[in-house]
Amino acid sequence: MLFQPSIRSLTVLAPAKLNLFLRVVRRRVDGFHDLETVMTAINIFDTLVFEPVESPEITLRVSMCAPRNRNSAPTDPIPTGPENLVVRAALLLKEHAGVTQGAQITLIKRIPSAAGMGGGSSDAAATLAGLNRLWKLGRSRDELLELAGRLGSDIGFFLGGSSTAVCRGRGELVEPLQLPMGLHFVVARPSSGLSTPAVFKHCQPGQSDRDVGEFLAALQRPGLGQMVRLLLNDLQSPAERLNDQVRDLRERFAKLPVIGHQMSGSGTSYFGICSSARHAGAIASRLRSEGVPWVQIARTCV
Ligand code: C5P
Repeated sequence: MLFQPSIRSLTVLAPAKLNLFLRVVRRRVDGFHDLETVMTAINIFDTLVFEPVESPEITLRVSMCAPRNRNSAPTDPIPTGPENLVVRAALLLKEHAGVTQGAQITLIKRIPSAAGMGGGSSDAAATLAGLNRLWKLGRSRDELLELAGRLGSDIGFFLGGSSTAVCRGRGELVEPLQLPMGLHFVVARPSSGLSTPAVFKHCQPGQSDRDVGEFLAALQRPGLGQMVRLLLNDLQSPAERLNDQVRDLRERFAKLPVIGHQMSGSGTSYFGICSSARHAGAIASRLRSEGVPWVQIARTCV
């Protein structure tokens, strides 16, 4: 998350994430699932601009930012009312801290929605951190993390201050992690998305016996060979059953000279790991020429 203060407003860049490893350990009695997941923030950002207003209202304006070489918008329509996590995060912080003033928030979307890239969660984290600064509340990271946990499972990762982390529990227990080198990706999102609850509902917990410890050890070794053999996403099979476009992307990536590939989060975005930005660019050109609607290159945030 990057902060750009100015006299009248505060701009925050909210990154997307990819899941390099995602094991669904068990279904819990509260309906959530215990996970072991390795998430890394990438340099595809939504932009949020926060401006103070004297009236108590929180208002949200959303504008889409379609990347070059694309015909269709990268996200489904984004709500501007309390269904939007940005508004919920702002209202929660305002109530928790007893703030009387309001804020005008402008959200410029670049991260596709319903894609498993954490866009909504990252926007919510940026709102908690951004308004904490704008309203000069001085709330600690732990306090913001507690609020984040009430809003959603992935939000803590984006507040955590580390661009890569192992997340456990339902995703809210964040253990920062240092990657030995930056990773390059090509990321694609088909024309349709998937709902996270639907994908979790169709997954079968405890299917894989793979351990996140083994993956973390491979991540620390030089070269990418060991790590890519241990990529895992237990949500990919149910996502492919629910949405043919995910299977189609897997089949396309399997024919491409990428180092490794898999779906991110609950989908439908799909990524390939590449050796360099140039390699990622070449793969992206091929996917675009095949008509994949949203394709971007990215690298891990530092
Ligand atoms: O926490 P979040 O709002 O992101 O979760 C959305 C939905 O995804 C939950 O309502 C739940 O159905 C599912 N989920 C889950 N286990 C998790 C995270 C999310 O079952 N660890």
